[in-house]
Amino acid sequence: MGPLVSNGTELTVLRHCLPLLGLLLFLCAIGKGQIQATQACSPPPLDVVSAPPLNAVVSRLAFGSCANQSARQPIWDAIVEFDPQVFIWLGDNIYGDNRRPLRLFGVEATIGPWKNTPRFFPSTEVELRRRYQLAKSQPGYGRLRQRTRVIGTWDDHDYGLNDAGKEFGGKNISQRLLLDFLDEPEDSPRRKQAGVYASYVFGPHGQQVKVILLDTRYHRDPLSSDGTILGKSQWEWLEKELYGPETEITIIASSIQVVSNLSATTGPFFYMESWGRFPKERSASTN
Ligand SMILES: *[C@@H]1O[C@H](CO)[C@@H](O)[C@H](O)[C@H]1NC(C)=O
Ligand SMILES: *[C@@H]1O[C@H](CO)[C@@H](O)[C@H](O)[C@H]1NC(C)=O
Ligand SMILES: *[C@@H]1O[C@H](CO)[C@@H](O)[C@H](O)[C@H]1NC(C)=O
Repeated sequence: MGPLVSNGTELTVLRHCLPLLGLLLFLCAIGKGQIQATQACSPPPLDVVSAPPLNAVVSRLAFGSCANQSARQPIWDAIVEFDPQVFIWLGDNIYGDNRRPLRLFGVEATIGPWKNTPRFFPSTEVELRRRYQLAKSQPGYGRLRQRTRVIGTWDDHDYGLNDAGKEFGGKNISQRLLLDFLDEPEDSPRRKQAGVYASYVFGPHGQQVKVILLDTRYHRDPLSSDGTILGKSQWEWLEKELYGPETEITIIASSIQVVSNLSATTGPFFYMESWGRFPKERSASTN
């Protein structure tokens, strides 16, 4: 999927990363509220000179995802020009895994009925860290970080492996590296929890925006299991977040598609990852 703020040219996107379908925001207007930094993690301190004051009314948020750290990323110019107060990474913030060529036949068939080799494989920790460094050294992103509060969650490719869920062995390493990338403080509780879900409250009393970032990877049961996406601990946390102190606007971000049920029409040939593939979990999310 591409970033919301786009000048039409830029982030190199992975083909299956469909436009905006994947990032899902529910806007729930909820009554009046008082402040409260939420328990999961208060926003990290900024190592920047001109960050907006945290109690300013937040009216400009930008979202982005699917950023290829090895490609040029001129999209940042447009994003910086929009001057968001908050920028939210929705996942595939880097491409941390590796893709083999499509091969239908042979000892290394990666697709089709004779597939015998996985199409994707993970990187080492050293390599993942190197890719995050590449992403962080993109000059346009550097400019954004100087003026904008950057927060985020992950999707599969920065989690470490295409379409991966809870079974992925490198997830704790990936969590540390993502949180390093996001400048999460060393002593943040988010570094100790299982998964990278988090929530933030911006703005003064009476004009607050809450941003809830889900983790759709760390606890996710296998595709087709009709199991859980968020896992028990994250569901409990989410419930507390939603029933906690009210805010004027609540934004919930998911790295995979919430509304779409596209796989119902493209399957059995091709499946997209989405909440629609976990019907029980999806109906729980709308209750
Ligand atoms: C990222 O960009 C590089 C350089 O253009 C390209 O070789 C690579 O295939 C891209 N990776 C993805 C996942 O699109
Ligand atoms: C990953 O971290 C969690 C705590 O967040 C811990 O319970 C688990 O054992 C760790 N898993 C591995 C494979 O290190
Ligand atoms: C998705 O579509 C299929 C086939 O039309 C349907 O059986 C299923 O209930 C739908 N799932 C959701 C979550 O809407």
